[in-house]
Amino acid sequence: MIHLPKSHEGCTKPTAHDSASAPIPVLMPEAPLGVALIGTGFMGKCHAMAWRNVATVFGGAHPRLEILCDTPIDKAEAFGAQFGFARATSDWQATVRDARVDVVSITAPNGLHRPMAEAAIAAGKHVWLEKPMALTLADARAMADLAAQHPGQMTILGYNYLRSPAFQAARAMIGAGAIGTPRAFRGVYDEDYSADPDLPWSWRMTHEAGGLGALGDLGCHLVSHMIALMGPVAELTAMTQIAIPERPSPDGPRPVENEDSAIALLRFASGAHGTFATSRVAHGRKCRLQWEVQGSEGTLVFDQENMNELWVHRMGEAGFTRHLTGPSQPDFAPFCPAPGHNFGFNEQKVIEARDLLAAIAGGANAGPDFASGLEIERVIHAMAASGGTRVKLGAEL
Ligand SMILES: NC(=O)c1ccc[n+]([C@@H]2O[C@H](COP(=O)([O-])OP(=O)(O)OC[C@H]3O[C@@H](n4cnc5c(N)ncnc54)[C@H](O)[C@@H]3O)[C@@H](O)[C@H]2O)c1
Repeated sequence: MIHLPKSHEGCTKPTAHDSASAPIPVLMPEAPLGVALIGTGFMGKCHAMAWRNVATVFGGAHPRLEILCDTPIDKAEAFGAQFGFARATSDWQATVRDARVDVVSITAPNGLHRPMAEAAIAAGKHVWLEKPMALTLADARAMADLAAQHPGQMTILGYNYLRSPAFQAARAMIGAGAIGTPRAFRGVYDEDYSADPDLPWSWRMTHEAGGLGALGDLGCHLVSHMIALMGPVAELTAMTQIAIPERPSPDGPRPVENEDSAIALLRFASGAHGTFATSRVAHGRKCRLQWEVQGSEGTLVFDQENMNELWVHRMGEAGFTRHLTGPSQPDFAPFCPAPGHNFGFNEQKVIEARDLLAAIAGGANAGPDFASGLEIERVIHAMAASGGTRVKLGAEL
């Protein structure tokens, strides 16, 4: 069903509700799959909630929560009990080889992504890996190559912000021409989790365990939105900044090795252009994944801090119209029958688990998988390397 604002009656342009028109049938596994979860921090708990809820929301067999891995072992045992896993261990290599495990969720720090994901694929498992893929572009490319050699095993990356009903609706609207031809993208992803200079040094601030800084932590999410809305990036120019060069640690001040913020100008393969900015030291910004797409016939605006709203302007209207998230948008109704009753961050992860299970059951992989995730890595590493000079994104990057 297409809902049109009064001022546009007779017009055939779709609105934020259009993508609801036909529910997409989703395949789900009929037999329970065994799940291993590595890591119990922010994302570990998020994956655990998703695995516990995915069949409740979307149907199919409930996954078996087989084994939880963290270090040290007493932490693994405590969280294993809390999250409802049958067993706990501190040995990730044994975890990915475990005979009762079909799928491995990897939520460990970035420096462990490549060894863990490669070992899981080599052991015949499906992999759900948190972003960014790896520390370096070479590592990400090697992982994508290995995954390509195992086409029967599904991979999916933790780009949860692609799953929200409002984002899916926005993408469908742009695809359907609701704002005409996209001409410009203006995107920001800012947070302030590192803005306090007294925040202790952590693995996230090193090349060895974190890889990139704000680009790998936040910027990659904005790139995932940007590519999904605008298509591939053809060229860019970027600059990075380390705003706080040292952080306190028990051993005294330690250097921050990766960028606190980055800005970029981009040209897309379509000819449209874009601006991009990301920061982990932006006071007051909590999850400001905010963008607008300006098209030849209108503009669409989204901000993750208000993730249940899409703002739409179409040529001739006086201003913007607020579209509230509701069951007519993709993937909202299985959670809640009532519009405006708000969708949340963790629910995005339930959809992500559903996407992986649907691919394992034989459906299309909604991705990004390791192959399409490599596109995102190419862009963030090109930004990190640009140093203010123009970088063309060819296959050789
Ligand atoms: N998708 C998102 O929105 C999102 C948000 C935050 C973090 N992340 C990503 O998730 C990953 C983890 O981030 P986090 O914030 O949960 O970090 P965290 O520090 O809160 O958790 C990391 C977990 O990994 C465990 N771990 C470390 N080494 C281990 C080992 N050798 N074996 C087993 N477990 C080990 C730690 O004990 C901890 O439980 C990162 O790659 C990060 O980029 C994604």
